[in-house]
Amino acid sequence: MFWNSVRRVTDGGGAALVVRGLRKTFPSPEVRALRGVDLDVARGEFVALMGPSGCGKSTLLHLLAGLDRADEGSVTLAGTRTDDLGAAALARLRRRHVGLVFQFFHLVEHLSALENVALAALVAGARSAEATARARDLLDSLGLLDKQHILPAALSGGQRQRVAIARALANRPTVLLADEPTGALDSEGQAEALDLFGRLHAEGQTILLVTHSPEVAAAADRVVRMRDGRVVDADRAAQAAPLAAGPAGRAS
Ligand SMILES: Nc1ncnc2c1ncn2[C@@H]1O[C@H](COP(=O)(O)OP(=O)(O)O)[C@@H](O)[C@H]1O
Ligand SMILES: [Mg+2]
Repeated sequence: MFWNSVRRVTDGGGAALVVRGLRKTFPSPEVRALRGVDLDVARGEFVALMGPSGCGKSTLLHLLAGLDRADEGSVTLAGTRTDDLGAAALARLRRRHVGLVFQFFHLVEHLSALENVALAALVAGARSAEATARARDLLDSLGLLDKQHILPAALSGGQRQRVAIARALANRPTVLLADEPTGALDSEGQAEALDLFGRLHAEGQTILLVTHSPEVAAAADRVVRMRDGRVVDADRAAQAAPLAAGPAGRAS
């Protein structure tokens, strides 16, 4: 406990994410995708990340998830700095703390909805029976229990994205990172997903979500805007007091 509290104090007091001076350049042809990004996401916060195509949003999410490494700067995820971790430790941290949702779902097409979610729970370390039970619970809470044995191809876009969100929640992530999760959905699917993100947020889930939709952004606590690899507009009040925002608990 003592060490825990020391780490909390030195690493940002229990924020879900603390990003400092993050830089990333892709070679040949050289693209300076991130040019010094600072960002705080408090536990329980729902942050919408907006900005024109190519400004570095996906690159930032990849770095936050530990899918790629920065050239400079630091990411502190759930109190642990990720920049000096080896590949195995980084993968462990990601499996434990990050849930990822993509625009095009990326479900395993030959697995049922239940199997897609259960697989993620298995990867997160659950035993087989527990993984299936957790997957069923998640599908149930997301209104998809009657679709549990259906293959993704037979689901609507909105339903597929809900399965993908269930999968992202299978490890009870500290932070849910979503990259344009409503970008490929019709208006009904978008409404379903938006409703779901709102509900997860109300249950305490920390969410960082990239979107072009003002409607989706309006559901967030705060909007962070990027341009040319930098954060150009963040809600300063929320940034100055990241510890005050949001409940401490998380969704199941
Ligand atoms: N793997 C990569 N290799 C080279 N360039 C990349 C790579 N990923 C992204 N980029 C470039 O980095 C910039 C930022 O891309 P990205 O983060 O995908 O932007 P956004 O998600 O905001 O549209 C773009 O110019 C893009 O072409
Ligand atoms: Mg992108």
